[in-house]
Amino acid sequence: MKGCVACGLAATRKNTVFARGNPASDLCFVGEGPGADEDAQGQPFVGKSGQLLDKMIAALGYHRDDVYICNVVKCRPPNNRNPEPDEIAACEPFLKAQLASLQPKVIVGLGKFATQTLLRDQTSITRLRGQWREYQGIPLMPTFHPAYLLRQPEEKRLAWLDLQEVMKRFGKKG
Ligand code: URA
Repeated sequence: MKGCVACGLAATRKNTVFARGNPASDLCFVGEGPGADEDAQGQPFVGKSGQLLDKMIAALGYHRDDVYICNVVKCRPPNNRNPEPDEIAACEPFLKAQLASLQPKVIVGLGKFATQTLLRDQTSITRLRGQWREYQGIPLMPTFHPAYLLRQPEEKRLAWLDLQEVMKRFGKKG
């Protein structure tokens, strides 16, 4: 993927950001796309929202290296704008291939953008979160994006309920 020039984001990225974590994990988190820290390091969720994501993963009883973490688009959109439909379409084969090879038991959709893109459903994340859905036959739990939770810490309570649903799927108690 490193030399990918399938969309315009190739012109401004520093690094492609494929994934981090365990490629044999049953649990996969999908975010939106790399920010500045991720672009600089070539790793997803290494900035401030990544630190909160690590805490959310720890609350599930895992270390961040135990789970698989990736994004809908693999290159940083300039100025952290949302990825454009043509950029998502160009990148989707990578995500599909990742998930097809990983075969996770559960996907957690992080935030409105990742969830709406995966589900092709424009319903608000406030309504999508907490309800099991499916992506390519894999159970998907939508929840809030950690960057949103950093801005709205009072919503962490709801995100915790969503993560408890994930724990139940794995036979763990929250
Ligand atoms: N936000 C995302 O959606 N993904 C990252 O990798 C970092 C921040």
